[in-house]
Amino acid sequence: MLAGMALITEIAAAFRGSLRRSVYSAGLLGLRRASTMREVVELRNVTFRRDNKEILHDVSFTVRQGEHWAMLGSNGAGKSTVLGFCGAVTHPTTGTVQVLGNRLGRVDIQTLRRSIGHVNPRHPLRSPLTVREVVLSGLAGSVDLPPRWQATGDETVRADRLIDMLGLADKAALRWPTLSQGERGRALIARALIVEPRLLLLDEPSTGLDVAAREQLLETVDLLEQTHPELASIVVTHHLEELPTTTSHALLLKQGRVVAAGTALDVLTTENVSEAFDHPINVDHQDGRWSARAARLSRTA
Ligand SMILES: Nc1ncnc2c1ncn2[C@@H]1O[C@H](COP(=O)(O)OP(=O)(O)OP(=O)(O)O)[C@@H](O)[C@H]1O
Ligand SMILES: [Mg+2]
Repeated sequence: MLAGMALITEIAAAFRGSLRRSVYSAGLLGLRRASTMREVVELRNVTFRRDNKEILHDVSFTVRQGEHWAMLGSNGAGKSTVLGFCGAVTHPTTGTVQVLGNRLGRVDIQTLRRSIGHVNPRHPLRSPLTVREVVLSGLAGSVDLPPRWQATGDETVRADRLIDMLGLADKAALRWPTLSQGERGRALIARALIVEPRLLLLDEPSTGLDVAAREQLLETVDLLEQTHPELASIVVTHHLEELPTTTSHALLLKQGRVVAAGTALDVLTTENVSEAFDHPINVDHQDGRWSARAARLSRTA
């Protein structure tokens, strides 16, 4: 189990140390240094075509250091596809994508992926890896462990420390198919953290989590703003209630087009959210948390 503030503080400390190391390791890997760069992700006029169908149309937005973005839109709007560009997983058909100062298509994406933490609850794992192996696969930059890839002793110690921090110490040797949805979610967060990321991508991280686990996850994400002012994050969700209070910016997608992109307060309005979901929705923002309810005609007795 995640164990409250002590655990969160420990995660924050690990992040603090990891950010310093990541700036150093980014230099070693030949990527641009964080200190000289503010843009973390930049999409310009991106289109994406598959099977003769245009899935994304002219998508542009920029995520900078320290910004915490939410990406919202209905099923099939293109959120995961956009996140795939941000995570250097897919290339656009036209337009340009810059990630951590490197243009996709001109940089070794395996190298780039090692500076990005990507949490996808529908992790497409084919082999029954253990929790420890899943966490280590983040370092390998692949879903399955590549043949002949071997973690160093230090990497295994770091993996175990993260597994412990996320409350999975007694599950480290369990295999993926036997884990609950919440356990998988926590293992995937540990997997994202082990790359010491400068960009954290979370694709519907609350999927399958109970309400307490969801709130703990949100607290952990929220804390990053204080501990890692340079870290940028993008959270994909269908639910405004699942947005961390630190959400600073938002992108609304509808059928592969941007409805609105910018600061959360400007973008997450009743008008824009209703437009994005093609349904009248009242948006509320109280004590830093967002909520949405279908706008209904008032009933008479
Ligand atoms: N490789 C692909 N080949 C064909 N169609 C694809 C491919 N990738 C995505 N699509 C289609 O593009 C559209 C957008 O998909 P995407 O997964 O990005 O949506 P999403 O907003 O993440 O949806 P959800 O909320 O259901 O996760 C969908 O209609 C999907 O079927
Ligand atoms: Mg998706």
